[in-house]
Amino acid sequence: MENQHILNDSVTTKLDELDKKHFLHPTTNPKLFVDNGPKLRFSTGDGIYVSDANGTEYIDGLSMLWNVNIGHGNEELAEAAKEQMSKLAYSSSFAGFSNEPAVLLAEKLAALAPGDLNSVFYTSGGSESNDTAFKLSRFYWTLKGQPQKRKIIALKQSYHGVTIGAQTATAIPLFHHFSGSGIAEVYHAEPHLTNCELGDKSDPNYNGCIRDVIENEGADTVAAVIIEPVQGSGGVHFPPAGYIEAVRKLCDEFNILFIADEVICGFGRTGEMFGVDHWRVVPDLMCVAKGISSGYSQLGGVLLKDEIRNTLVQYDDVLAHGFTYSGHPTACAVALKNIEIMERDNIVTNAKNMEYELKAGFDYLKERHPSVTNTRALGLLAGFELYFDRDRQIPFEHSLAPATEVTEECFNRKLILRPLASKVGRNIVAIAPPLIINRQQIQDIINILDESITVFEKKFR
Ligand SMILES: Cc1ncc(COP(=O)(O)O)c(C=O)c1O
Repeated sequence: MENQHILNDSVTTKLDELDKKHFLHPTTNPKLFVDNGPKLRFSTGDGIYVSDANGTEYIDGLSMLWNVNIGHGNEELAEAAKEQMSKLAYSSSFAGFSNEPAVLLAEKLAALAPGDLNSVFYTSGGSESNDTAFKLSRFYWTLKGQPQKRKIIALKQSYHGVTIGAQTATAIPLFHHFSGSGIAEVYHAEPHLTNCELGDKSDPNYNGCIRDVIENEGADTVAAVIIEPVQGSGGVHFPPAGYIEAVRKLCDEFNILFIADEVICGFGRTGEMFGVDHWRVVPDLMCVAKGISSGYSQLGGVLLKDEIRNTLVQYDDVLAHGFTYSGHPTACAVALKNIEIMERDNIVTNAKNMEYELKAGFDYLKERHPSVTNTRALGLLAGFELYFDRDRQIPFEHSLAPATEVTEECFNRKLILRPLASKVGRNIVAIAPPLIINRQQIQDIINILDESITVFEKKFR
């Protein structure tokens, strides 16, 4: 037993050294990583839990990157992958080639998606989906004889990914400016101004709303507006009542395409199959990834409404866009099984039901902790904020990094959450556990938060 332990320790040390030497980690402080090594090396997963090689178990309170919707360690998905890999792991979708799982998944997505979003262009993830949506929007307008319609309008606080187009649409400064790689013709509007989008120019916030940007730039130069139904990484911001509908109306009024970035919201995260379903709005293009396969395979896609598809299929030359892994058979087989399980086990309904448990837990935290405020949850996309004086919305001193402090305390208690502090003064803790979570497990999360916030408040209040 002792020898085993020593062996494990030496393997761990060796892996740490290799990690530091050979693996450049995404969205990580590289200097700190090389100094300190990995924070945690995941080894196994089971339901809402992930464990390291020593068997220490953590609650995955963010479904890793908001994507492991049906939870970890699902054997049925492993079987689906094995079966497809044994038959045909990979084949090309270029040049007219096709495969069965990709076709069946396309049919399933058409059935699930709202309105006439009846066809899909496959990608390997969310950023590729958004870049694809931008390119297909522009190409659509070119085919419609309006090649000057090229501009893309995104919202401030948005996160759309890190490929060069998606990076530019992303408004979080850290990502938007990284390596100065942005593209031209992308604009950012003030988010969530329902009245302004409906045309109320007397509203003092009118300057900089989407409508204002369209009017300034000229609708005949704008290809598309892209929004997350609920903003995720920018701070878990919900749209106010009527907003999504107002953006739909605005896009119709100016003949501009409406792209919904459902990369986080899609596949049950908000307690409906898609985020836009809450408002009965049908976008023109809908970008998906993450929950489509619950992270078991790298897959994304852009769903297209019939008018766009019908226009694109008139084009009698090569559609010069596609990824090696567009329509990946194994990824699609896994996604099909993932959706089958979601439907069979009523996982989306569970997300909706657990929203109420989480909200009850938030009420408890608010009662006990004067710093906790602006709690919110739609399905299992949730968060709260930490303020020094919540009544007057006075933030903690920025250097205290309260959201980071609290999530670190949670981590010490074996709960993984994510701090979002995109704007100075706003300290948001994001919570988005796997959608299979039960009441007791929500209670466990709330209890750990309670202890962690207590420690934080003792230190800093
Ligand atoms: C709303 C949204 N869009 C796009 C992306 C990018 O997806 P990916 O990291 O798969 O490229 C993300 C990733 O978190 C996201 O949250």
